[in-house]
Parts: sequence; C-alpha cells; structure tokens
Amino acid sequence: MLLRSLKGICMSTSGQPASLGLALERIFHHYGDTPVVDDVSLALAPGELIALLGPSGCGKTTLLKIIAGFQRQTAGIVRIGNNTVDALPPNRRRVGIVFQNYALFPHMSVAQNVAYGLDVTRMERQAKQARVGAMLELVQMAHLADRYPRQLSGGQQQRVAIARALAVQPSILLLDEPFAALDKALRLDMQIELKRIQRNAGITTIIVTHDQEEALSMADRVALLNRGKLEQFAAPTEIYDRPATLFVNTFVGTANVLDGRIEAVDADSYTVVLDVGGTVRAMAPHALAHGAKVKVCLRPEALTVTEHPDGLPATVEVGLPLGSSIVHELRLANGTLLKTAAPRSAGDQPLPGGAQVRLRQHAPAVAFPS
Ligand SMILES: Nc1ncnc2c1ncn2[C@@H]1O[C@H](COP(=O)(O)OP(=O)(O)O)[C@@H](O)[C@H]1O
Ligand SMILES: [Mg+2]
Repeated sequence: MLLRSLKGICMSTSGQPASLGLALERIFHHYGDTPVVDDVSLALAPGELIALLGPSGCGKTTLLKIIAGFQRQTAGIVRIGNNTVDALPPNRRRVGIVFQNYALFPHMSVAQNVAYGLDVTRMERQAKQARVGAMLELVQMAHLADRYPRQLSGGQQQRVAIARALAVQPSILLLDEPFAALDKALRLDMQIELKRIQRNAGITTIIVTHDQEEALSMADRVALLNRGKLEQFAAPTEIYDRPATLFVNTFVGTANVLDGRIEAVDADSYTVVLDVGGTVRAMAPHALAHGAKVKVCLRPEALTVTEHPDGLPATVEVGLPLGSSIVHELRLANGTLLKTAAPRSAGDQPLPGGAQVRLRQHAPAVAFPS
C-alpha cells in the first residue's frame, strides 16, 4: 500500500519525477547589525538528503527561510536546479516546508489542510481528492482525514504537515526540527518513515536538527553550522572520524579534550605530549608544526581501561553499565575527567569507584591548534 501511494508522488502529472539540485552561493544574512548567516555555500545533488545541524540560535531556521523565500538574504544566491530563485516569491519556488510547530490551520480538517496548497492550483476536483488521499495514505493518516488539528497528537499533526508539504510535489523539501516535539520511540519511527518517503520520492531534502544522532543517522551528508558559519559539510562518518574543527569534534559525539604539544611530526600522524603526562598519537585536519600547542580530542571508544603499566594512571569515578556498552568516567592525576566506552558482554560489570587503572589509546586522537 505504501509503495502504491508513493508512486503518486514520484510521478507528477507530466510523468516526470521533479527532483532538482539546490545550491547556496555565499549566503550572508544580518538582522539589523547582527550577522546570523556568515558566508554559507552548499550544493545538494538532486535527491540528496542533508542535515543542517547546529546549536540553537546558529542560523538554521533563517537559512531555511532564505531557501523557501520567506526571508530575503542580505547577500548571496539561491539556485534551484539551474534557476536563480532570489526574485521569486515562496509560492513560485516549488519548495515544500514543514515548520517547527507544524503550522496547521486549526479551522481546517486534516484533508483540507493537505489540500491547501492544491487549492491555488487549477487542479481538477477529482485529481485533487486523489492526491490528498494518496498523501494521507502515505503518512498513514487516511483514517483521520476528517479530524481537526486539535484532535490529533503531536506525531499525527507532524504527519499531516509532511503530507501537506509533499502534496504540491515540491522539488525541494525543507523540514525544520520536524521531530523535536515527539517522544523518543515515535521519533525513531518517524525518522525511518521520512527517510523511506524521501528515498522513494527522490526529493532533495534538508532536515534541520540540533540532534546529532538524528543528523548522523538520517543524512547523506551533514552540514554543521556554528554561529552562522559552516564548519564542515561531509558524510556522517567523515564528520565523526575526521572532524575539520574542534567545534565539530566536540559537538558531534563525545570527545575528551586534552591540552598538549606536538613532540614529533611523523609521516601520517603526530606524537603529542599531554600536559597531564604521557603521549598520544594524533591526526590533524591541518598541518601542525613541531612544538605547536594543541588541543587533542579522544573519543571514549578510542581509550581502553587496562592494568598495563605503560598507560596513563587514572582513578575510576563512576562506571555505568549501559546495556550494550560500559562507560567509565576516570580522573587523571591533574584532576581532568575523561570518559571511556567499551562494548559490554553479558555478565560484564563496570569497575567500582576508586579503582586504580591505566588508560591506553587504541585509535588516533585528532589534534587542533590551541
Ligand atoms: N526576525 C528576527 N529578527 C532578529 N533576530 C532574529 C530574527 N530571527 C532570528 N533572529 C536571531 O538570529 C539568530 C539565528 O536564529 P535562527 O535562525 O532561528 O536559529 P536556529 O534555527 O539555528 O535556532 C538568533 O540569534 C535569533 O535570535
Ligand atoms: Mg530554528
């Protein structure tokens, strides 16, 4: 049933899927004197799903509004397909947008909400009804077509908002924190469902989120924004394994950050002496000179708790058995706290608080100039 209704989206009336690429070229935006978007360039391939990730207030919603045409940028160009759309009003950009608060019309039924965008087109009544029916089936809301938004849960309102955005067969789909109001179990279901809808419909999509797990799990590529600047735009594994900046390394996943100094520049890595003692092996996104002061980031899973005498001495603060893994928080001689994480087998228990251990590194750290 899902596949049948998806065909309704894939094939527009002309029989062509309407998938176009999107390009942002050197976008700047100021509200008054405050810069909010600072020289952002991004290019999405047709059908690509990217996550725009960043802390609250970094400019994500502003960027979506600029793409949709609700906000005119201070400078820069927005291209959809081969066309520059900066002079076009929102309703002529073929961009579907799902706002953070869903923004359903309270006085309209579910079906009327979904039909809203079609009302302004000259679509035949029957075709319109069929499209609304297909969209509601797609988001599994057909049985609630006559309800009003106030009679729906958050998750249901969310589905209606997605159906409404897709009904007009947009070339680009924009979703602003679409799952933020949903509880965790429903959020996972909706993430999987949205990804399936997006894949099958082949719609170029930007999903805005401040949730790094959501970004890493859903997106083909992640654009990480910090204070209006693009820190990195890359595949999720690349973002996690090869962070371009200290901000990326600490915002995505967990990182232990330690101060140190480059002691040796080797062929493809660096040896860093830590201020707290001991050395670590590190990669770096930009070349670092011998003697340079650095901050090194070590993922919890890159550290092993051992009894080997070579390791860095540490004391267990707490151990957490998290089901499939064990996390330890450890204190180094200078008071620095570090986290370690290791897969857990049945029966494994965390070490007790106060246990004296040694820490060893089994995957490279990443070093950034400090
Ligand atoms: N209409 C506006 N007028 C003035 N400042 C705004 C306006 N909208 C957003 N801002 C400010 O711009 C910054 C970015 O906002 P926003 O794009 O909503 O961030 P995000 O969606 O990443 O949380 C914030 O500091 C916010 O307070
Ligand atoms: Mg926002």
